[in-house]
Amino acid sequence: MKSSVTQTPFGKVTGRRVELFTLTNSRGLVAKITNYGVTLTELHVPDRRGRPGNVVLGFDNLKQYLAHDAYFGCVVGRVANRIAKGRFRLDGKRCRLAVNNGPNHLHGGNAGFDKALWAAEILPGREAAVRFTHTSPDGDEGYPGNLAVTMMMTLTNAGGLRIDYAATTDKPTPVNLTNHSYFNLAGIGNVLGHQMKLAARHYTPVDDTAIPTGKIAPVAGTPFDFTKFKLIGRDLGRLTERPIGYDHNFVLNSGGKALAPCARVFEPTSGRVMEVLTTEPGVQFYTGNYLDGTLRGHSGFYYSQHSGFCLETQHFPDAVNQPNFLSVILRPGQTYRQTTVYQFSTQQS
Ligand code: BGC
Repeated sequence: MKSSVTQTPFGKVTGRRVELFTLTNSRGLVAKITNYGVTLTELHVPDRRGRPGNVVLGFDNLKQYLAHDAYFGCVVGRVANRIAKGRFRLDGKRCRLAVNNGPNHLHGGNAGFDKALWAAEILPGREAAVRFTHTSPDGDEGYPGNLAVTMMMTLTNAGGLRIDYAATTDKPTPVNLTNHSYFNLAGIGNVLGHQMKLAARHYTPVDDTAIPTGKIAPVAGTPFDFTKFKLIGRDLGRLTERPIGYDHNFVLNSGGKALAPCARVFEPTSGRVMEVLTTEPGVQFYTGNYLDGTLRGHSGFYYSQHSGFCLETQHFPDAVNQPNFLSVILRPGQTYRQTTVYQFSTQQS
């Protein structure tokens, strides 16, 4: 089988045509990605018996993506996760962002990169790849500078989905991009029976509005310890956060310098394994705590709490206000880069 990319219409947004790209690789993996928010709508991966199945939550049509705000499969930016009260100082100047999540700014604001219609180009080559580009104007959701962003989505012949992000700016501005796919390696049901291991000995505890306290705390002896394979649901009862579940940034052991292991997840009934590798120093592990059974997704399934998990590779939340977190400020002349690979395989038990 050869890799290929096809393009079909996926509806319209404010009179403009939206496209759906279907990427197929030499191993039979299929990824469907729309240029509305660079959203991964479906990802079909074989199970241990070779039967393909979709492993991401999503909708069958654009209308539902426009109507709901669960961030299924999309890019998030300019800055993923929360910025306390939507405020920070940059080079002594005050910046004010849209406040769209309680008292805080979340995932780039009211109309973040997930709600932009990106330009798209199918790339020639041995692997199925599409390049998406978007320019966020100076002042977009309160952020300074014109920011030019490129995302390359590649379905690799090694059996993975690789995302390469790049961005440049004409004024200093924070940038922290990620993908917000909700995975379910069984395709249906909840993800509490998946086993997961994270390459993280520390995490960043949060206050009651989900803003980091600034501490970098060891996971040892806490429900956040995924240093050895553990059922995602095993320690859920020990979490004090409501709605119940994980919604925390983990500090990756790699420090985020080169492409390094982040997570390994195994789903015993299908045998599917997903490994995540990233150049980022952190990952937000989110267990779909706010899903409440009202969204009707692929194959008519209603997504209830914990129907999917996200591994959002990123710099740490609220880094713009946290002096001991790595900086997310991009300056003119610099290029922001991040790469994350979701690698699929199967295992017997
Ligand atoms: C955040 C959650 C938020 C969710 C939105 C996650 O990245 O950490 O708090 O509710 O995105 O779907």
